[in-house]
Amino acid sequence: MKFNPDLITIAGNWKMNGHKAAAAEIEKLINLINETDANIILFPPFTLISDFVEISKSSYLSIGGQDCHHKDSGAFTSSISASMLRDAGADYVIIGHSEARALHGNDSSNVINKTYNAHENNLVTIICVGEDLSVRSEGKHYDFISKQLENAVARTSNRNNTLIAYEPIWAIGTGDTASIEDIQDMHAHINNTLKDFDMFKKGNPSILYGGSVNPKNAAQILSINNVNGVLVGGSSLDHIEFNEIIKSK
Ligand code: 13P
Repeated sequence: MKFNPDLITIAGNWKMNGHKAAAAEIEKLINLINETDANIILFPPFTLISDFVEISKSSYLSIGGQDCHHKDSGAFTSSISASMLRDAGADYVIIGHSEARALHGNDSSNVINKTYNAHENNLVTIICVGEDLSVRSEGKHYDFISKQLENAVARTSNRNNTLIAYEPIWAIGTGDTASIEDIQDMHAHINNTLKDFDMFKKGNPSILYGGSVNPKNAAQILSINNVNGVLVGGSSLDHIEFNEIIKSK
């Protein structure tokens, strides 16, 4: 389904999880979400993208890649380009996830160049930002996130091809969800920061929250001002849990 920025977005990032047998999980999920007014996206590992695209065609589920290289092709062992994701049938890509930044040394120029390349290949980008615990405990998290946004949002961005995901690193995979106040304050800050960006003159992009989202806390998180969806890790691996999050919107 084509991305609609006016709808809530529920996205699942499978990270390095899932083998071919997971196709059964996707079929069950598709059966559960046979009607929805949300953008629903799964980001499986690269090896499963083609299979999942095939299974999910003519369903409400869209498929994306978890990262891409900033060049189209070349001697970049271990990398996947945006055009390869497009070729596999993906419609979305996550850029600048904190795990990718940490593991693959994604600096800011790298992140923005990935975004350009993804847009050239007509992929909708989810650009991740998020501070670690030391930045937050020094009280520098607002400045840190503003800088990350300035360094990652490309001139080619608009609300139809870009979403922002705020994922505080200390909340990822820890069960330590950010408090309602923390999410509300940071999403308001991100919303205000983006309003000043020329490329969002016609409207701000959706802002997702990510970090220990689960069926129990999803409804409350989705009701916070300026939270336009969630990016879910662990709880997206199980079709029942993920569907509960979809239903809680
Ligand atoms: P968890 O939901 O497992 O904390 O992961 C969040 C995340 O990193 C999604 O991209």
